[in-house]
Amino acid sequence: MRVLVIGGGGREHTLVWKINQSPKVSQIYCAPGNAGISQLARCINIDASNIEKLADFAQKEKVDLTVVGPELPLSKGIVNEFNKQGLRIFGPSKEATEIESSKVFSKYLMKKYNIPTANYQVFQDSEEAFDYIKQQTFPLVIKADGLAAGKGVFIVKNLNQAGDALNTLMKKKTFGEAGRQIVIEEFLEGEEVSILAFSDGKTVVPMVSSQDHKKIFDNDQGPNTGGMGAYSPVPFYLNEFKKTVLEEILKPTVKGLQSEGREYKGVLYAGLVLTKEGPKVLEFNARFGDPETQVVLPRLKTDLVDILNAVIEGSLYKINIEWNNNSVVCVVVASGGYPSKYQKGKVISGLERLKKMKNTITFHAGTEFQDGKIITSGGRVLGITVWDETISKAKEKAYEGVGKIYFEDMYYRKDIAAKAIK
Ligand code: AMP
Ligand code: GLY
Repeated sequence: MRVLVIGGGGREHTLVWKINQSPKVSQIYCAPGNAGISQLARCINIDASNIEKLADFAQKEKVDLTVVGPELPLSKGIVNEFNKQGLRIFGPSKEATEIESSKVFSKYLMKKYNIPTANYQVFQDSEEAFDYIKQQTFPLVIKADGLAAGKGVFIVKNLNQAGDALNTLMKKKTFGEAGRQIVIEEFLEGEEVSILAFSDGKTVVPMVSSQDHKKIFDNDQGPNTGGMGAYSPVPFYLNEFKKTVLEEILKPTVKGLQSEGREYKGVLYAGLVLTKEGPKVLEFNARFGDPETQVVLPRLKTDLVDILNAVIEGSLYKINIEWNNNSVVCVVVASGGYPSKYQKGKVISGLERLKKMKNTITFHAGTEFQDGKIITSGGRVLGITVWDETISKAKEKAYEGVGKIYFEDMYYRKDIAAKAIK
């Protein structure tokens, strides 16, 4: 099979690495890819959101299976277009992707089908929103309806902060159309867990649990990022939660989407909070998480390509998906300054030394080749990923790995997976 992976981050490096393990695969392409991916796949210089060019490429190269990493091409309808052209592609349609690309739709769906989530109200007018906020108790959460690269969510503790958030979203329109409507919801207290699941529209199979670290600084301080590290499994995701999440969250969501005429095929990612009243949904994503994928896929024993095919064909019920018992930790190394301004073009050293470590993989994110050297080209640069018998051992080795890497101004959190060890 000839497989095309769309995207160029750590998640896509992990997908390419896993797909490369399948005996069914003869050639992997990745658009646009990165320096790490180029060691396993042929990188194609096409933007991940250029649907027309990607479809032309898939036609010309007779690609048998396309796998989409990021949300943007999904929300722009890449799956609809590929299907129209008779090209096989893994991911939800534009309409089903609205579960991620419109928070208003996602909340509406959860309310209609009784899926546990934070109570909320939708507003199109900032004055009305402000009047509503005055009657609520803090903290509150204010969210842009549309995609805002993780930056459209404000947790506000008083009226002043709420006013600032409304200004940013609705008056200054910092996120454009994404902030035309907003969701105001109650603050959910508890540990966050990411549960990714495969869905073919009928059968839903959850993957193993993982936890992201969204904030830039240790102890979950500072602004949100794309994710500074992850680990799997999550020790406080108890067995009793697994059944609730499958029966009361994942299955009714997929069924609800079906009833709305939006069949869901792909990865459904539930961002959950384990509240005192049980697991509740913070958000849904319509794709693999980044960096969750880096810690989940190394635990997958089943051929990923078989699963992707079964999702497309609607025969997921036929597959027995198996996982190993390893504990996996991924520490993200970023460019200093991220998630604000940062410099690119720094030469990375130590990658060869890392390759000698056992049970360790360096997934590349923002890297590229220049004059035979690997340099930084993005905010998140590398994800040093290690598996071992326990989270504690995996964490120790992951940081040992980080110690072998150097580039100017590199930054990483020192407490990835610490919560799982206490
Ligand atoms: P979202 O994009 O909706 O996942 O929000 C990004 C981050 O904001 C989440 O990972 C949480 O850390 C935080 N957050 C969002 N909604 C809530 C909520 N209702 N209660 C508490 N934290 C929240
Ligand atoms: N790790 C968060 C996300 O993929 O959206």
